[in-house]
Amino acid sequence: MDIEAQKKAAAHAALDYIEDGMKVGLGTGSTANYFIDALGERVKQGLNVICVPTSIASEERARNLGIPLSTLDETPELDVTVDGADEILEGPLVLIKGGGGALTREKIVAASSKKMVVIADASKAMTAEAFGKFPLPVEILPFGAGATILKMRRAIEKLGMSGDLVIRQKDGENFITDNGGLIVDCHLGHITQPEKLAGKLRRIPGVVEQGLFVGIASVALVATEDGVQTLEKTT
Ligand code: 5RP
Repeated sequence: MDIEAQKKAAAHAALDYIEDGMKVGLGTGSTANYFIDALGERVKQGLNVICVPTSIASEERARNLGIPLSTLDETPELDVTVDGADEILEGPLVLIKGGGGALTREKIVAASSKKMVVIADASKAMTAEAFGKFPLPVEILPFGAGATILKMRRAIEKLGMSGDLVIRQKDGENFITDNGGLIVDCHLGHITQPEKLAGKLRRIPGVVEQGLFVGIASVALVATEDGVQTLEKTT
C-alpha cells in the first residue's frame, strides 16, 4: 500500500466508529478528506449524522457532499471526532497537529467530543525516541508576534530544547489561519517532555493554541503495509 492508499484505508476504518444519529467532528487535511468523502457516501446511502467541521476547507468539502453541518454553538457536545495528525506518540497517543494550520479549531472540536479517533498512514506513528521531528505548529496573534516568539524561544530553552522558530509562509506571504492568526513552526528535532512544553507554550500571552494534543486522542487507526492497526491510549 502506498501512502495515499494507507491514508484512505485508515479513513475507511474510522467509519466503524460512526453510528446512525451521531454528532461527528470532521478533521482537516488529506487523511481527514478521505474520511469526509467516505462519510459523504454513507450519508447518500441514508446514514443520519450531523457534523461540525474544523476548518473552512473541511466545511466546504462536507457541504459539497451533502453532509448535514452544524457548529459548536448549536451542537456543543459531539460523540466522536475523526482527524489526522502529523505525528502520533505511541502509548500516550500525544499528537502533533497543525500541519494544515487548523490546530486551534481541531483542538476545540476534539475536546468537545466524547472520543477522538486519529487516522494516519504508518509514517506518522512515532516512538518516544523519534517524536518531535515534525516542526511543532503554534498559532499566535499577529499583534506583538516578535515578542511572543521571543517568549516561546525562552520557554523552549528552559526545557532543554532548541531550534528555529519560523513564521509559516504561503505564496511569499505569511500564512493566515481561519482565525486570522499566524503559525509559528518550531523546528525542535525531538520533543522530550510534550506535556510540560504544551503547558509552557499555552501560558504565553499571544499564543492562541499550540499543536501538541495531550490526553485528547483515545484511539489511533494507523494503516501499514499489512493493514490497519488500532493503537489504544495506554498511558
Ligand atoms: C491540520 C492537521 C492535519 O491533521 C495534519 O497536518 C495531517 O495532515 P495530512 O492528513 O494531510 O497528512 O493537523 O491542521
